[in-house]
This record gives sequence, C-alpha cells and structure tokens, in this order.
Amino acid sequence: MLFGHDKIEILHLPTPLEYLKNVSEDLGINVYCKRDDLTNLATGGNKLRKLEYFLKDAMDKGATMLITEGGAQTNHGRLTAAVAAKYGLKCAIVTADEYPGEISANLLLDGMMGCPVFFVSDMETGRQAVIDKFTAEGEKVYYVPMGGSNEIGMLGYVECAIELDRQARDLDIADATIYVTVGSMGTYLGMLLGLKECGSDLKLVGINVLPYGEVGHEEEALRKALWNYYNSSCKALGLDTDRFDIKPEDFVIETAHIHGAYNNAVEEVREVMYYLARKEAIIIDPCYTGKTFEAIYDGAKNGDIPQGSDVIFMHTGGLPGIYTRHHRVELERELMPYMHIGEF
Ligand SMILES: Cc1ncc(COP(=O)(O)O)c(C=O)c1O
Repeated sequence: MLFGHDKIEILHLPTPLEYLKNVSEDLGINVYCKRDDLTNLATGGNKLRKLEYFLKDAMDKGATMLITEGGAQTNHGRLTAAVAAKYGLKCAIVTADEYPGEISANLLLDGMMGCPVFFVSDMETGRQAVIDKFTAEGEKVYYVPMGGSNEIGMLGYVECAIELDRQARDLDIADATIYVTVGSMGTYLGMLLGLKECGSDLKLVGINVLPYGEVGHEEEALRKALWNYYNSSCKALGLDTDRFDIKPEDFVIETAHIHGAYNNAVEEVREVMYYLARKEAIIIDPCYTGKTFEAIYDGAKNGDIPQGSDVIFMHTGGLPGIYTRHHRVELERELMPYMHIGEF
C-alpha cells in the first residue's frame, strides 16, 4: 500500500541496477543503468510500473476496458494494451496524430495484441466519441491519462525510487545522480517524491524531451507544469505538501536535449545510441532514452559531470521506437555500410 493505493503485481521486481564497465572506463565516470526496459510485458518499459497501480484501480472499479491516448507511436498505449491483454480486459488507444501510412513499431504490437487504435482529428471530441461507443456496447470503461501520468500512475515511480535507493546503498553509490527522461512527467515526479519519502541521498536530474513551452521558455514552462502536477497529486492523494518540502526551484531539469521537437530524428542522438549499443549491447530509443543518455555522454565529455562521479541512467524502455519509419530510414541509411552484399 502506497499513499492509500494498492497495485496488482505484474512485474518481476526489482529490475537490475547494472554497472556499465565499458562506458565507465571510456567516459571516466561511473555509469550504472537501472534496467526498467527489462520489465516483462511486450518489450517492456517504464509505463508498466504505472499500470500496476492503474490495473488495481480499474479492477476495483469493475472496469472491463482500458482506454488511453497518446501519439500514434505511444509506448504507453502499447503497454496499456499489453496489460489489458494479459488481464482479460479490452483496450483501445486514441490518437490525434495522422495515420503514418504503415503499421510499424508500436502500432504493429498494438494490433498484434488485439488493441484497436482510433485516429481522430480532435482529441477532446474523439476521445469522448470512443468512450461513448464502447460504453454503448456495454463496456465499463476506465480511462488512463496520456503517459499514465496522474497521481495514481506516478506511484509506480515512487516505488521505483525506493527500490533504487536500496540498490544504490548496496552498491555503495548512495549519493549518485540519477538521469531520467521527462515526457508526461509521472516518472520524474514519482521518483522525486519517492526519494524524499525514503530520505535518500540520491540526486535526480530530469531530461525533458517533450517541450512544454515556446522556444526559449521550455524550462520555465516545465517547472510550472511540474509544480501544478505536484500540487494536484498531493491533493488527490490527500497528502500534505509539507510532507515532501518541495519548492518549484527544487526541480532539477534540463531542456537542452529536446533538439527542437518531440520525437524528431536527431543525428547526435543516434550517435549515442550506436555508442551504447557498441559498448554495452544496450539499445536505447531515439525519442526518450537516447536524449537522456546524450545528456550523460555530453556531460562527461564537457566536464559538467566531473570525472569520477557516480551516475545512474534510468533506462525507461521505448525499444519499438527504432522501427518507426522516420527513425528507421535514418538508421538504415547510416548502417548501410555494415551490409556486405555479395562482396568482401
Ligand atoms: C520509453 C519512455 N521513456 C520515458 C518516458 C517518459 O516518462 P513520463 O511520461 O512518465 O515522463 C516515456 C513516456 O512515454 C517513454 O515511453
């Protein structure tokens, strides 16, 4: 029980905290990886920890169906479909993106797991129309917000932070700095509250990949969004905000790795994806974890992360992203020299 909420155990926890020897030797900092990409349904990822709490809430409310929303290539949608499939619920994903012209990456997995994806022109009306359709068909719909980021989903990462604090103590890196991706914010905020809750000395840096404000105002806009999310979550969970003693200035966030837009194809990000794959055989994605690992790589190279520091990279999953067309074409172009067709 966490802040009045229970979960249904879906995952084999704890996920490993691994020392990345080759990268550490190369960068001159000690890099550890928290393998939340190894969570065990449908190629894994951070949303499954959130879904353990949503599933319990949905079951308690007698739901027969989960409906969620996001971009066409939402990892969260894919993992919501996975949990629904495994626990005998129906599922649907609503997206305001255009149909990308092919069923690849997450869309392919959604379909394989029997989850319909509704491409709508307006999210507000489209979402309601999909909910109304299934309600009229007799389903009891449970709506999971975009990215699973509300006060319930966040609890999965409160728990993860407590788990990670224990693992870090065991490895004698109790005051390391964690780098985590900030998209819909639940992972970062949950971890921040979890670290406060267990009195951890671990530090947390959020790498934003989804711009919240106009160019030049991203950081201030994100800080405001996090502050609102924090206050609304405390209220919804019936928690006194004094319990965590957080002020807007306490959010340690970086917006330098957005590279202009959400989920764009960026050469520098692909370079660190190749780097990590070639040094550690760990695959990161171009939308989320690639940008976060780039922050660690650049920080080590330019001295912002001092040599000898202990750093924890939160691997939050996102593997199917490499198969999305606009990323795949760039990867294929760059990797063509590795193909030796009829020659040596
Ligand atoms: C692979 C991956 N990493 C990180 C995130 C960011 O997590 P959050 O939305 O909780 O900020 C997401 C969100 O979709 C994701 O899919």
